[in-house]
Amino acid sequence: MESKKSRILVFGGTGYIGKYIVKASITLGHPTLVYTRPLNSQTPHSKTQICNEFNSMGVILVQGELEHDQIVEVIKKADIVICALAYPQVEEQIKIIDAIKVTRNIKRFLPSDFGVEEDRINPLPPFQEFLDKKRKIRREIEASGIPYNFISANCYGAYFVNFLLHPHEKVKNIVVYGNGETKAILNYEEDIAMYSIKVANDPRTCNRIVLYRPSKNIITQNELISLWEQKSGQKFHKDFVPEEEIVKLSKTLPPPQDIPISIIHSIFVRGDLVNFEIGEDDLEASQLYPDYNYTSIDQLLDIFLVDPPAPAVAAFE
Ligand SMILES: NC(=O)c1ccc[n+]([C@@H]2O[C@H](COP(=O)([O-])OP(=O)(O)OC[C@H]3O[C@@H](n4cnc5c(N)ncnc54)[C@H](OP(=O)(O)O)[C@@H]3O)[C@@H](O)[C@H]2O)c1
Repeated sequence: MESKKSRILVFGGTGYIGKYIVKASITLGHPTLVYTRPLNSQTPHSKTQICNEFNSMGVILVQGELEHDQIVEVIKKADIVICALAYPQVEEQIKIIDAIKVTRNIKRFLPSDFGVEEDRINPLPPFQEFLDKKRKIRREIEASGIPYNFISANCYGAYFVNFLLHPHEKVKNIVVYGNGETKAILNYEEDIAMYSIKVANDPRTCNRIVLYRPSKNIITQNELISLWEQKSGQKFHKDFVPEEEIVKLSKTLPPPQDIPISIIHSIFVRGDLVNFEIGEDDLEASQLYPDYNYTSIDQLLDIFLVDPPAPAVAAFE
């Protein structure tokens, strides 16, 4: 008989990656709760639509603020907590940690990481400061004794295909950061979400960092553009932005606009996603779950040809 499915609570479940995580949790048969700020007349229509969709899928929506007593009550109803709050709310995760310390029932907590492996890279100062906030949360979790996973999901695939290639627009020129030869890792959001639910339930991964680095998803900007040219039948002109210009922008743009350009430098110029080897002590998702048929970049571009995933809110524009 299959063991009882853990109850998964998602903070930030109505957000960009949160939606995928909630759907993956339901797909894998978990009773799923989403803690969301109260819906009211100011709530964007898009969020109301997502909440309606969640309701029809059987997701339990709990409305409330990031306030101790309210969070404690909802955490009591869960076994696993996954946080996908937006970057400006990263430090507010302290409140979730404090609540879990009180309830003491949580078998696994995944904080809002989902990007670079922040403990192994040293990017330009604006991105460094961004990561310091995430690192601080990691250290708090370690010190608290709460069982955790830290997820390094690398680039959200559809998000970065939209940003780099602009498939929704009829562009003739594509901007290339650096010389376009640096390897990056682009993982489709559905797979990031499915892997994350699997990791959160996996006894092998307790208190470990898990890297999402499937071999078919490592690609340079130049390779990505060529592949898209082959598939779309278009030919693009490349506008190269030299590293010096990117570094200069990271120093001259006002905060928070200096962060995205510093992230771009880290990923597409320095190659921080692949700058370290996966050692014997590391856990990598496609190796942990070899039977899971993840979406390759090639397949992701096919999805863009047929039914392109919508761009995210324009963080990088
Ligand atoms: N690897 C990558 O390529 C990549 C790309 C982008 C982001 N990320 C990371 O992914 C994580 C999630 O980012 P995201 O872009 O998916 O988030 P997002 O869509 O911007 O927001 C997620 C949720 O946060 C909640 N939220 C927003 N503003 C809030 C506020 N003022 N107070 C309280 N809650 C608020 C909202 O939930 P409710 O309205 O339901 O309360 C929102 O749906 C972050 O750690 C980010 O750094 C990674």
